[in-house]
Amino acid sequence: MAKPKVFVTRIIPDRGLKRILDHTDATVWQDDLPPPRAVLLERAHDCDGLVTLLTDKVDGELFDAAPHLKVVANYAVGFDNIDVMAATQRGIPVTNTPGVLTETTADLAFTLLMTAARRIAEGRDYAKSGQWKTWGPMLLLGQDIYGATLGIAGIGRIGFAVARRARGFNMRILYHDAVRNERAESELGARFVSKQELLAQSDFLSLHVPLAPDTRHFIDQAALAAMKPNAVLVNTSRGPVVDTMALYEALKARRIFAAALDVTDPEPLPADHPLYTLDNALIVPHIASASFETRNRMAEIAADNLLAGLAGQVPPNCLNPDIFKK
Ligand code: GLV
Ligand code: GLV
Repeated sequence: MAKPKVFVTRIIPDRGLKRILDHTDATVWQDDLPPPRAVLLERAHDCDGLVTLLTDKVDGELFDAAPHLKVVANYAVGFDNIDVMAATQRGIPVTNTPGVLTETTADLAFTLLMTAARRIAEGRDYAKSGQWKTWGPMLLLGQDIYGATLGIAGIGRIGFAVARRARGFNMRILYHDAVRNERAESELGARFVSKQELLAQSDFLSLHVPLAPDTRHFIDQAALAAMKPNAVLVNTSRGPVVDTMALYEALKARRIFAAALDVTDPEPLPADHPLYTLDNALIVPHIASASFETRNRMAEIAADNLLAGLAGQVPPNCLNPDIFKK
């Protein structure tokens, strides 16, 4: 029997890619940049399976361009790039890679928090550029992390893991979410608060909500105005959860202390964007899950999801499992 045809939209780590290449007739897009839309639509035409990234739009148009499609395995936990409803309407399972990247992403959120609080990027530039002439009583003063109040917006797996790290710094933990999380309350002493209270009380505010219509610009001009002047905003969720220009204005006017962003809107943030001109904006290129081990594990999970879908089984991380109930 011919092996199923698969298109993988970028080179992913070996541990998953090898499994895919062993079991399918797979083509892997070799470029550093995503396949252009027209190429993706064309390549999908005779595919039984697709492995996509968060940079690929997976929607009705793509499904309709791929009449044999049995599964889409997205190499990410976030799936705002996928129109899940369109997949469900056509009976195509779509999958993500949750769980394995939780701790690595929480590590980066905490790294960003500490880096911005203690002005590490500025300090590095200062030392390197020859400005370091003496020890300075007023040099690069930042914010204390130990004992401060951490606000978590969205206490899913990643938000919970960030809060768990904060316990080691004796931080007071507040959270806001659509539903209460009793485990966070009993295990971490986290306190459920309104969004307004979260904004008003947090010294550090870390965002862990998925991108959806109701979380777009969750942090807007009004939210920034409600934050403390010493506050540090950390975003490892999705760029559009923050209104970029409102953040720029707030940082420029020093209405909050700093922001540390792993995700931006637009993404990538172009090199001439005004946010880069601010020394209190720390921006890294969407690397929260980027450890060797985690990216390999994500690749294995994407491969498992793909192969299960191709075999007509329910993939382990199916986002629309109801399609199998009919
Ligand atoms: C990365 O942002 C992911 O969703 O996995
Ligand atoms: C994502 O996996 C989350 O639940 O935060």
